[in-house]
Amino acid sequence: MKAVLATPALIDTELPEPTPGRRDLLVRVEAVAINPVDAKVRASLCPGDPPRQLGWDAAGVVRAVGEQTKRFRPGDAVIFAGAIDRPGCHAEAVLVDERLVGHLPAGLSWAEAAAVPLTGLTAWEALFERLRLDPYGGDRGSRLLILGGGGGVGSMAIQLARRAGLTVIASASRPKSQGWVRELGADHVVDHLQPLAPQLAALGFGPVEAIANFSDTDAYWPVMAELIAPQGSIVAIVGNRTPLDLNLLKEKSVTFAWEFMFTRSRFQTADMGRQGEILDELARLLESGALRPTLRRTFTPINAANLEKAYAELASGRMVGKLALAGWG
Ligand SMILES: NC(=O)c1ccc[n+]([C@@H]2O[C@H](COP(=O)([O-])OP(=O)(O)OC[C@H]3O[C@@H](n4cnc5c(N)ncnc54)[C@H](OP(=O)(O)O)[C@@H]3O)[C@@H](O)[C@H]2O)c1
Repeated sequence: MKAVLATPALIDTELPEPTPGRRDLLVRVEAVAINPVDAKVRASLCPGDPPRQLGWDAAGVVRAVGEQTKRFRPGDAVIFAGAIDRPGCHAEAVLVDERLVGHLPAGLSWAEAAAVPLTGLTAWEALFERLRLDPYGGDRGSRLLILGGGGGVGSMAIQLARRAGLTVIASASRPKSQGWVRELGADHVVDHLQPLAPQLAALGFGPVEAIANFSDTDAYWPVMAELIAPQGSIVAIVGNRTPLDLNLLKEKSVTFAWEFMFTRSRFQTADMGRQGEILDELARLLESGALRPTLRRTFTPINAANLEKAYAELASGRMVGKLALAGWG
């Protein structure tokens, strides 16, 4: 089968097809979306390390199943992000534990569908599990500040939060990303390159009940401590580089949570199957039109040259929505 490996240079290669373990699906990959995690794993490789198959966002068709699988059969169309400690999706056929897999949303292209899992799971878990907001309207009217609204995770989170009835203030710094977050339903837009407190004040807002930071945790730590309401909650998804002063949150009794989309698969948690359920819920929302696809661009086919081009765009730090690659040529 065709595959792309990071050595860290990207190379097109041929590999033997893997064999499913007991709870695995063997999936023929039709499209993959790119994410910053690909670039981070690639950057961590040193010359001489074993090559890695990157890519943790895919849509495809089940070709074979392990003996203990229950939810899928050969021929089913699926989406998944998978597990960071297994090979990624940059191969014609890949293995994934069926508990991490959802059904393909009807009506979406392969590329649109491939752009859903990683960012959709991260946004859902961040808002509804770590911040413990109610996806079904129980926190209607609460104010949520989303830092990094125009990126992949922000694009899903804005939509999920609006649908949950929250008042969404999303940050974006350029006309293109600002227009995009408005299109996705953000109630208000602030510019993260300008001081945030005066912008919130100008909108008539004091402190906000919740903050979802999809950007630099270190840079926003003191700002978040200032903007969060007493007894509010903050979630972050980007690891800190320097120690964070937790005391900044003490006086306000603020809850801080990390979200790491790969936690469940990495530790094989008892509720690992929640990711399959969340993906199915996202598929239902996409099918009903309650969510719109966040894909903005597609490169064809999936190969080293196109992945290199896609990673160059990602490295700009100015992605708006998602970029995917489709087909094997
Ligand atoms: N923990 C997890 O499970 C998890 C999951 C997914 C992603 N992540 C991490 O989360 C980060 C975001 O992921 P992503 O997929 O959303 O990335 P992305 O799509 O590449 O994000 C691009 C967006 O970042 C915004 N941005 C750039 N500088 C910013 C700043 N100073 N403040 C706020 N926003 C800024 C840009 O907005 P403008 O163009 O408007 O400036 C752009 O729209 C990455 O570091 C990624 O590795 C973690």
